[in-house]
Amino acid sequence: MKNTTSYTSEALFIEGGRALKGRVRVSGSKNASLPILMASLLSKETSAIENVPELLDTATAFELLRSLGAVLEFEKGRVLVDASSVNNHRAPDEVVRRMRASVLVMGPLLARFGRATVSMPGGCSIGVRSIDQHLKVFEKGGASIEVKHGYINLEVERIRPVEYTFEVITVTGTENALMFLSGCEKRSILRNIALEPEVMDLVEVLRKMGVEVEIEDRTALIRGIAETKGFFHRVIPDRIEAGTLMVAGFLTGGDVLLEDVRVEHMGSVIEKLKEAGAEVDILSLGSLRVKGGGVVKPLSISTAEYPGFPTDMQAQFMVLCSLADGISEIRENIFENRFQHVAELQRMGADIHVRDRVALVRGVDRLYGAEVYSTDLRASAGLVLAGLVAKGRTVVKDIHHLDRGYEKLEEKLRALGATIERLPPKDA
Ligand code: EPU
Repeated sequence: MKNTTSYTSEALFIEGGRALKGRVRVSGSKNASLPILMASLLSKETSAIENVPELLDTATAFELLRSLGAVLEFEKGRVLVDASSVNNHRAPDEVVRRMRASVLVMGPLLARFGRATVSMPGGCSIGVRSIDQHLKVFEKGGASIEVKHGYINLEVERIRPVEYTFEVITVTGTENALMFLSGCEKRSILRNIALEPEVMDLVEVLRKMGVEVEIEDRTALIRGIAETKGFFHRVIPDRIEAGTLMVAGFLTGGDVLLEDVRVEHMGSVIEKLKEAGAEVDILSLGSLRVKGGGVVKPLSISTAEYPGFPTDMQAQFMVLCSLADGISEIRENIFENRFQHVAELQRMGADIHVRDRVALVRGVDRLYGAEVYSTDLRASAGLVLAGLVAKGRTVVKDIHHLDRGYEKLEEKLRALGATIERLPPKDA
């Protein structure tokens, strides 16, 4: 394909207007794979994890585990981790900057070795994203914390049982705390925990490792063991990828059948899609079909912790609202700076006004293809969706953000009938 523009990172070229039709398999969940990979550090025995998506973020997690001394094999979504020879306890700045979820090594390293050093994660594009709640649990469990030269040094001789109520509901904070407390043989209590399916997938893994975990409402009771076992686990499907594909099917007036989805995890997204006018048929516990075509109705969306509407679907639904017949209101409650896709969508003709954490979206008849920039993972997914429905050609630049979290998205969309192509990076 010919293009005259310069790109410093790969870009996606999309010719809008094709209705997506056919079957598509949802990949394994990124946000479940990452903590589960880190959990393998807890045991000297080998662990096997299936359905791990091939992404930039999982590759970064492999690199991090290897740098700690673990031996990994990865083939066709199956990872074998032998963490018996881990001898390094430090997550370097260069890796943490690329992937904040690297902080998830803290819990397991402390549980198994009593020490961890992790570069202090700075702010990121979607918000400040502090890790104070992670650290509070470690401190309550007896860990000493020292921040020096941009690194957090943690040390604990023997983990004490913890009783802690999270001040904010945090996904990775809950995961880190659970892994940390797996190293304490007395019973701990965590309240106000995150209940995201990805957290529950980790809980299942910890149970397989021999850790006792009971969850009741937002409370976890946890009792660790001295020697955790290796585990075999198949990661849950990615509910955010599934939701993104569902919006694509609906908005393009298509008919898409999703396979390998966990319907029970899709509640709030299905509800909003139906409210917007989509036909969603649940075919089984693991497959569903989405059809679009009619008028798109405006929505009122307020992001919330699971089982509420996921912040990771906010950008994609903003595209939907941009084409609705009326005014929608989208409130972002989880992150303070997660509206960066707005400026790019405006370039495509969307009518959006943001005030603090609320976006008012006045539906327009159509969006128009343009050159737009990805700013973060889910923003890029939103821009791809916008490109699929826009009139004319869209070039989504800086798609390394997209590659962090969507496995072969353009191949999947192409198989459904989209005109989408990856453009190689070119120097300016
Ligand atoms: N927060 C604190 N203190 C803490 C931890 C969090 O104030 O110690 C605040 C954050 O600043 C934020 C809110 O609590 O305002 C929720 O953050 P949370 O900790 O739940 O987010 P996270 O664990 O860093 C995970 C996902 C995100 C997803 C959020 C919310 C992973 C690896 N990441 O992040 O996924 O948006 O939960 O559901 O699981 C993505 O995949 O695109 C992505 C950003």
